[in-house]
Amino acid sequence: MMRWWQDAVFYQIYPRSFADSNGDGIGDLKGIIGKLDYLASLGVDALWISPFFPSPQKDFGYDVSDYQGVDPAYGTLDDAKALFGEAHRRGIRIVLDLVVNHSSDEHPWFKAARASKEAPEHDWYIWRPLEGTKPNNWVCLFEQSSAWFPNPATGERYLCTFTPFQPEFNWRNPELRKAIYGVMGYWLDLGADGFRLDVATAYIKDEGLRSNPFSPNLIPDLFQKHLYDRNRPEVHGIFREMRAITGDDRVLIGETHGFAPELAAASYGEGDELHLNFNFDFMATTWSARKLREAAERWYALLPTGAWPVFTLSNHDQSRHAFRYRGRTGAETEGRAKIAAALLLTLRGSPFLYYGEEIAMGCERLPRARLRDPLGIRTWPLGFLGRDPERSPMQWDGSATGGFTTGESWLPVNSDVATRNVAAQWRDPDSVLSRYRELIALRRAHPALREGELRFLDGPEGLLAYERCAGGETIIVVLNFASRARIVDIKAPGRVLLGEDGRDTLVHAGTLELGPLETLMILSSAGTDGRL
Ligand code: GLC
Ligand code: CA
Repeated sequence: MMRWWQDAVFYQIYPRSFADSNGDGIGDLKGIIGKLDYLASLGVDALWISPFFPSPQKDFGYDVSDYQGVDPAYGTLDDAKALFGEAHRRGIRIVLDLVVNHSSDEHPWFKAARASKEAPEHDWYIWRPLEGTKPNNWVCLFEQSSAWFPNPATGERYLCTFTPFQPEFNWRNPELRKAIYGVMGYWLDLGADGFRLDVATAYIKDEGLRSNPFSPNLIPDLFQKHLYDRNRPEVHGIFREMRAITGDDRVLIGETHGFAPELAAASYGEGDELHLNFNFDFMATTWSARKLREAAERWYALLPTGAWPVFTLSNHDQSRHAFRYRGRTGAETEGRAKIAAALLLTLRGSPFLYYGEEIAMGCERLPRARLRDPLGIRTWPLGFLGRDPERSPMQWDGSATGGFTTGESWLPVNSDVATRNVAAQWRDPDSVLSRYRELIALRRAHPALREGELRFLDGPEGLLAYERCAGGETIIVVLNFASRARIVDIKAPGRVLLGEDGRDTLVHAGTLELGPLETLMILSSAGTDGRL
């Protein structure tokens, strides 16, 4: 029997940018509630909501100053409860974003910790004497500086590897662990269905705080191999403790930091650590059937027995894939977005969608004055590093503010909003949105697409093909990554589940012409010999 989180299509909401219910230009929880019917008819099963807890918003919610409340910009605790209730009523689960590698420097725990060495919370953070040289070469990613920041009140330095406003917890302290586990229990009791764990693999630092060795890579390494500030073996003990809290009915999803799929694979433990882990390999893969197949194969091969894969193409930290995979024309970009959707929704594993990808939202460069992301501001004019472009407001309709707000939105709405929006695509059977709805419905209807084994099929360059089999049913998926037609040899005849307009409903054995950027899905009783 599959667990719900193996069966589910997940959808990530960046609450600040999804839907604004009160015209202040900032998305909020009531806004999300108002869109639940849309999400239900899109067909998604679970929402991962980026942090909406009280926060000074220096890293837009990834700097939490109270783990048990709701930031007034997003609503109230009652709104959160209403969101859980309304989502559950529609069969949609809610996954919260737990940011516990660090807190905000305005969290009362840190305020107490920095005021005195005698405070019980002092040892909940990581300190070294202010005197003398810095303890090591670790870097503060978003500040592009040393990770050690002075605290004259205690004559010490504290550690921040993201912004200087995100002091890092000392997970070796048992009281800190107890406090965090209490936070988890609190939200689980309120009805949360699990947690996405922000930078989970960074919780524990090297006991001796050794310096990281040199790496030739700027992105994402910042010229360091992160051997000692992240990815320590002791982190697995924490994952096991968290798993004991959630059990298997609620889900733990690791943001295993960095692009190495090995790290993500290791975070499943022996089925006793995190249920799902992000592998960001796809985000670093260019538009190539061969490379995406290799990335998927690498991931499947690395996963320990019984571990359930996750696939994702976009999130709030990376350029959107419709932008990364853009073609020479709008039509080509949309065609590619449909192929990417088919891949994401028919591979074996849980797909994670990012809000707006269902209408192929892109990314636009912002003028300096409109930047909000600390990383983007710090690294300007290297626009590709900033994260504002992938956080632009959801495009609900063709009005100037995209139906996101009645006020002035906190980030500019993309300039293509008049034509690219949910309302327009909902009516258009050929739109990217209609394709997402079709694909999700097919996933629901066919167990082979959810639980079936997957076998890649060898075939001509530029095509990605595989078959999924379960319960006597075989579905063959053929994705033409090229913008020109291709001739393929079909060995398994069957019924067409999805194909371009005008295609016959039956496919016979023999040669067949695939259209440019066509997705062809065949339901076959025969199966193939491993080739196309
Ligand atoms: C994660 C989040 C990112 C945040 C960082 C620090 O990578 O996804 O948005 O800035 O952690 O919390
Ligand atoms: Ca609002």
